[in-house]
Amino acid sequence: MNHHFHTDAASAEASEGPEGQERQLLAPTSRSVHGDARHVPLKTGEADMVITSPPYWLKRDYGVEGQIGQEATAEGFVGSLIDCMENWKTFLPKWGSVFVNIGDTYHNGSLANTPGRLEMAATAHGWTVRNRIIWIKDAGMPDPAKDRLKSRHEYIIHFTMQRRDYYYDQFGYAEKYGNGTGPSDVWQIGLKRDTSAHLAPYPVELVDRIITLACPEQVCTCCGKPRRRIVERTGELDESRPQAKRAVELAKLHGLTDAHIAAIQATGISDAGKALRVQTGTGRNSAAVKKLAGEAKQALGGYFREFTFAKRKSNGWTDCGCDGPFRPGIVLDPFMGTGTTLRAAEAAGRGSIGVDLANSSEKTPKRVKSSGGRK
Ligand SMILES: C[S@@+](CC[C@H](N)C(=O)[O-])C[C@H]1O[C@@H](n2cnc3c(N)ncnc32)[C@H](O)[C@@H]1O
Repeated sequence: MNHHFHTDAASAEASEGPEGQERQLLAPTSRSVHGDARHVPLKTGEADMVITSPPYWLKRDYGVEGQIGQEATAEGFVGSLIDCMENWKTFLPKWGSVFVNIGDTYHNGSLANTPGRLEMAATAHGWTVRNRIIWIKDAGMPDPAKDRLKSRHEYIIHFTMQRRDYYYDQFGYAEKYGNGTGPSDVWQIGLKRDTSAHLAPYPVELVDRIITLACPEQVCTCCGKPRRRIVERTGELDESRPQAKRAVELAKLHGLTDAHIAAIQATGISDAGKALRVQTGTGRNSAAVKKLAGEAKQALGGYFREFTFAKRKSNGWTDCGCDGPFRPGIVLDPFMGTGTTLRAAEAAGRGSIGVDLANSSEKTPKRVKSSGGRK
């Protein structure tokens, strides 16, 4: 077991909870372990989530005893990955996520659909498939086939152990990777070439996107809860859009109040509305909310809906109220390879643990493989 970097805890920053109390934030740590992804030697609380790229079926032979990827059948390959995921389930927190980067394989001329098979098998083992992200690459391995198109995409499958309330920061992601309020499941990220002119393993940006989405910045060392971003709605619209500008003019003209705007947001655009169920944020009962929303609708007509797209703002982080320090979230990569995940985690201020069967990965996580392309 090697420690690649371990910043002195004395350099830890202080973190302020919502009530102004100072709680210490420990520095991130990183280590790599020689081992099998099916038997990761971790205990609960030692890793928060997984970001990994296992070998794809029948692609690159890593030449290590016990390697995954050279199974005789697609079912056998998927079975190996399920054995891994069932092992990770034993130590990840319930709010954790697993992101698996996987590409498909042509076998006997036909796509084997290993990504789809993995999704189905994982679902049968109680996992929830929350996203199948398509990673579009602008380059790839040379492919001589003349009777089909070259494969220029792979998948990143997002698995969770619970259907809701897993840790997720869509707001932070949208701010950083700028897709507006509804970021897309199609990611175009180029493969940067390393110094030896061979294709690099998956790009740091791909890992950083996932870290931003699903690895908490801070986790309580006492109760193990992540701090979650507090996102609040505002009544502010993006007035560069003419419809939004007109909506604001009409609201002013008719003297609509903050309570009207809150009522619009609680009601939503449908007439049935959520106001009957949702009162949060309006401070009023549902009958009053309906009345306000009705007045707003009369004043705004078709521009009513504009206020349902109002900007949101980040307003601090939840605090469990425990006494001890926070630590940065910890990413596990059980198929560490050259250590891209660990480097991305370090750059993002998160902790990391890498596991690989190959001995070369026990070295400092620099790119050590120089032969061949990626899988
Ligand atoms: C596609 S590479 C990972 C690339 C990695 N994302 C990177 O940045 O370099 C897959 C890795 O899985 C490792 N591997 C194969 N079978 C394994 C197993 N059963 N347990 C752990 N590692 C394994 C291989 O040695 C290889 O380094």
